[in-house]
Amino acid sequence: MALLEIKDVSKYFDDKEVLKGVSLKVEKGDVVSILGASGSGKTTFLRCINYLENADSGVMVFDGKEYDLKASSRKEMTEIRKKTGFVFQNYNLFANKTVLENVTLGLTSGRKIPAGMAKDRAVKVLDKVGMADYLDYYPSQLSGGQQQRVAIARALATDPEVIYFDEPTSALDPQLTAEVLQVMRQLAKDGMTMIVVTHEMSFAKEVSTKVVFMADGVVVEESTPADFFNNPQDPKTREFLAL
Ligand SMILES: Nc1ncnc2c1ncn2[C@@H]1O[C@H](COP(=O)(O)OP(=O)(O)O)[C@@H](O)[C@H]1O
Ligand SMILES: [Mg+2]
Repeated sequence: MALLEIKDVSKYFDDKEVLKGVSLKVEKGDVVSILGASGSGKTTFLRCINYLENADSGVMVFDGKEYDLKASSRKEMTEIRKKTGFVFQNYNLFANKTVLENVTLGLTSGRKIPAGMAKDRAVKVLDKVGMADYLDYYPSQLSGGQQQRVAIARALATDPEVIYFDEPTSALDPQLTAEVLQVMRQLAKDGMTMIVVTHEMSFAKEVSTKVVFMADGVVVEESTPADFFNNPQDPKTREFLAL
């Protein structure tokens, strides 16, 4: 059974349909890269499946339990958030909190984990992303790449079953992009299940188990990286890859 199956998500903003029935199946250990031009609905899709946005229809089956993405209870939303992590394009760290506090906050206040235990866990995940020497730094004292690695540590700290990344490197210059991608490659190697909206073709090609190409609110093509890049089927995919 798939870890996560999303069926037929639709979403309107006013009278504009930005998701027109998007479906996706994710197995444990999958790294799914979602590609597509700006405005194709990638962010909205990730936000709908984590309840940051309310879908107009669609169902998600997570660990065998079915969730109605349009009408889930608070309890169901909390359940899903506990099983998932989210990494945003602009890191979304608390500016007035240290690196350590940014990572422990969701553990101590969100999950009622005792402070000592939360700190141990935070140090462990910060070490994993190469940020254990920066516990007392504030986000403004860090590069964008370092901030994003802290954000990844924050997502990891809650021991999620899947992490969603929304263009995690698009605000970074090439060198900082490389250090964040390196962390993501390592997570993939460790077996973390990930859905990654990205424009990094080398990541999609080399790290993904599955590539999904979206355009205008629909999945145009879904395949293995080898098929996607070497043998694209849809004319829209060919056009996208030629860019
Ligand atoms: N909060 C919003 N209100 C109105 N329109 C939105 C909102 N968020 C996104 N959109 C529109 O929905 C479409 C898809 O956006 P988005 O999901 O951000 O695409 P992508 O992440 O692929 O660039 C775009 O046309 C965008 O302008
Ligand atoms: Mg986006």
